[in-house]
Amino acid sequence: MAALERTLVLLKPDAVARGLVGKILQRFEEAGLKVVGTKMVQMDADLAKRHYFDLEERFGKSVFDVTANFMQTGPVIAYVFEGVEAVANVRRMVGSTFPNQAPPGTIRGDFAHTSKAYTEEKGTVAANLIHASGNVEEAAYEVDLWFDKSELFDYQTVAERFLF
Ligand code: PPS
Repeated sequence: MAALERTLVLLKPDAVARGLVGKILQRFEEAGLKVVGTKMVQMDADLAKRHYFDLEERFGKSVFDVTANFMQTGPVIAYVFEGVEAVANVRRMVGSTFPNQAPPGTIRGDFAHTSKAYTEEKGTVAANLIHASGNVEEAAYEVDLWFDKSELFDYQTVAERFLF
């Protein structure tokens, strides 16, 4: 049976600065994903390091530096979404890490078109609007890192109340 999962989404400083928060949230809500936690956060170096703890090992120091620095240039909005296979479904809706490779219909594909926007660093991508947990294990770590248990909510949506 398909699993009910929770996943972490961050609307990055470029999405907040461009006023895309409502449009992006609407896509997830319309797809039936349920908001079970949300807040606005100014990331600091410590949180960036804990969130991107394996980025340097996976992609190198310059990718870590550019990404961690960019994430501190303005507030981000964090969500925990709940839904059926939410981790993979949200990643599909987000699209490729590189906006210039993200097809129309995905969030990055529709709201960005270049992988180098706002960064001079060659080969890195910073302003790609949104972060979403990469797999179920990462989602568990990230939800726990960003949200206290008391900040996550169990409630029924209208659809859940009347259909199930
Ligand atoms: S991947 O490609 O799906 O495996 O990467 P992912 O784990 O989702 O995220 C990698 C994060 O690093 C940022 N970044 C880059 N990734 C890959 N290659 C290059 N050159 C690069 N430059 C920056 C990328 O934006 C991801 O940030 P988040 O916040 O996780 O989306």
